[in-house]
Amino acid sequence: NSWDYGPLGVLLKNNIKRVWWDMFVKSRRDVVGLESALIMNPKVWSASGHMDNFADPLVECKKCHVRFRADEINVNEPCGKCGEAGQFTESASFNMMFKTYVGPKEEAAAVAYLRPETAQGMFVDWPAIVTTTRQKIPFGVAQMGKVFRNEITPGNFIFRTREFEQMEIEYFVGEDGWQNHFDEWLEWMRKWIDACGIDKRKIHEVEIPEDERAHYSQRTVDIEFDWPFGQKELYGIAYRGDYDLQLHAKNSGQSFTYKDPETGEEYVPHVIEPTFGVERTLLAVLLSAYQEEEVKGEKRVVLKLKPELAPYQAAVLPLSKKEELMKLAEPIADELSQSFSCEYDVTQSIGKRYRRQDEIGTPFCVTVDFDSLEDKAVTIRERDSMEQERVLIKDVGKVLEVKLIV
Ligand code: GAP
Repeated sequence: NSWDYGPLGVLLKNNIKRVWWDMFVKSRRDVVGLESALIMNPKVWSASGHMDNFADPLVECKKCHVRFRADEINVNEPCGKCGEAGQFTESASFNMMFKTYVGPKEEAAAVAYLRPETAQGMFVDWPAIVTTTRQKIPFGVAQMGKVFRNEITPGNFIFRTREFEQMEIEYFVGEDGWQNHFDEWLEWMRKWIDACGIDKRKIHEVEIPEDERAHYSQRTVDIEFDWPFGQKELYGIAYRGDYDLQLHAKNSGQSFTYKDPETGEEYVPHVIEPTFGVERTLLAVLLSAYQEEEVKGEKRVVLKLKPELAPYQAAVLPLSKKEELMKLAEPIADELSQSFSCEYDVTQSIGKRYRRQDEIGTPFCVTVDFDSLEDKAVTIRERDSMEQERVLIKDVGKVLEVKLIV
């Protein structure tokens, strides 16, 4: 259950993260970014409650020794692996944090943990952020990065893995009016889902009832998606009250109090937390974009990705490997690469190359043919409509820029 992202996967993943950062940090005056450490002082994890509570109930089949999450199976039924009935061990709590040792000695004092969420870094750094920026409440801190969870049952491709990336926001507010901020952030999450091209018909907003919410949360909404393996969580948003900052204040002895510069009022802020998984975004984006169509009696697979997420925005394709065509095409690819992610491909027939670009979601193909030698123009082919347009070589960059913005 470890996944590598190849040359196209990493481009898609990076684009998701960049668009998220642009939407939630770069374009907002009330959100600042952060990159906190993956290995923090273990006291952070005792303070946050992860040491005691970040655990899943684990049972093991006594016959085949396969382990399951007790809350995901019926322990009175046969084992899903070997078929033995009612043969599970008592449920035991299993902490999901990955343990490691800091420094050369493997001793108790050196134990540390890989972070299981990015959120805590934003809480413990909050006092430093308040003193070093001009931000006033309400404002948010955002960060993205790797997290690690020793999941008992990883699976469903990249849906649940032990190493994954989160993109999270902690939005700090006064207690009054948190409901409005919550609604605004839920609306922003909908905008993000739209911006990624995730199929809205497969999205379900599930209000978590009080008896299933964390005791400190007065409202939590799970945003679920219809995956091929069922309706399950894509994202979440929670109102966490002042729970986190109070815990860190108590355990660190530091002040997590905010002084309103206008009213002089002092209080520990409350938090709204919208949280996004990168891999689940990538999977939902792929599932939403994938389409099969019939073109001239043949199946065409096309990934209708938003152009800003596509691994390549353009592909430059000389009609053949003839030297004079390549000589004309290579500088076009070089120029386009200054502004876009651009592929240059000379192998196979032009029809096959178009299909290949359709399958990886490239919105525009730029074809250099024998006429190009005379008219100094190329053909731009659009992925979804497959329409073609003749454009002067000197204008290709500008034309694509306009098309990609629209
Ligand atoms: N700070 C809050 C938090 O960590 P979470 O629901 O545990 O909340 C947030 O995780 C998001 O991270 C989820 O909505 C999901 O998108 C993603 N996620 C959680 N566990 C995951 C796993 N094992 N593999 C991949 N993504 C995961």
